[in-house]
Amino acid sequence: MSSSLVLIGAGRMGGAMARGWLAHPSGPAAGGVSIVEPAPSGDLIETAQAGSLLLNPKPQPSSFVVLAVKPQGFSAACADIARWVGPGSVVISIMAGVPMERISTALGVSRVARAMPNTSGAIGKGVTGYCRSEAVGAEHQAAIEALLAPLGEVVGPLDEHLIDVVTAISGSGPAYVFLLAEALAAAGMRNGLDESTARVLARATVSGAGALLESGEDPAALRRAVTSPGGTTAAALSILMGAGGLEALMEAAVSAAIARSRELASS
Ligand SMILES: NC(=O)c1ccc[n+]([C@@H]2O[C@H](COP(=O)([O-])OP(=O)(O)OC[C@H]3O[C@@H](n4cnc5c(N)ncnc54)[C@H](OP(=O)(O)O)[C@@H]3O)[C@@H](O)[C@H]2O)c1
Repeated sequence: MSSSLVLIGAGRMGGAMARGWLAHPSGPAAGGVSIVEPAPSGDLIETAQAGSLLLNPKPQPSSFVVLAVKPQGFSAACADIARWVGPGSVVISIMAGVPMERISTALGVSRVARAMPNTSGAIGKGVTGYCRSEAVGAEHQAAIEALLAPLGEVVGPLDEHLIDVVTAISGSGPAYVFLLAEALAAAGMRNGLDESTARVLARATVSGAGALLESGEDPAALRRAVTSPGGTTAAALSILMGAGGLEALMEAAVSAAIARSRELASS
């Protein structure tokens, strides 16, 4: 088996990974990269024409096989994927809800990793939690982390049973933040702002607060820094942090997401 890398599925997430690998020629794609994708984007076609990657080449067993097809397409794609897999391959899946055991059995491999990215990964600002099978050694683990790095921060390895929790926190998490921006804008409108002004204020507030968090500072410290005793922020937080407030709601929401993730994985 040649030392090689293949990406199966170059949509939003897979495409972002491939662009990240190709932007760093000494990184994971240093030994060459093949991409299997029925509808490649224009930039990937151009990169293939320039000779930097192989687009839909003839399958051959590869060292690293990255699966970024939709989970519901996995069964149908298995026979094609198997042609890229040899007994020594490391298979890295970002398919939501497909357990490592299923991948391992379907493809006949022992070295498997399963990762849960989130939507911000498409712009390299996501966070990905991952787990890996016992057969994956330290060297392969470092390679797996390098392959996931273009999507943003990488957290792990974790126990596989925690991937449902990762799904509920960071996988689904961007939607919770988008909802926060929606709810903030709606409250502004209910209090007299026109829709466009309310939306600009809410969106810029959420993205600006996100940018402040990027410093790595503790969110509680950032919150305390903008909360004067007896002030307006304190008045709002007394509601959000009171009984039945955001913490209780978030706990219930995350529990619902974990339960659904477990249900989907076993269906
Ligand atoms: N987007 C997210 O926020 C997110 C978060 C967590 C996990 N994920 C996981 O990431 C994976 C990819 O998601 P995505 O949003 O990037 O989906 P996507 O944009 O639909 O990308 C999947 C790509 O795979 C291609 N494909 C389908 N069947 C194939 C086959 N047999 N061989 C090769 N390529 C094939 C699809 O082509 P066609 O369009 O022509 O079918 C599509 O371009 C999914 O498994 C998803 O569960 C995504």
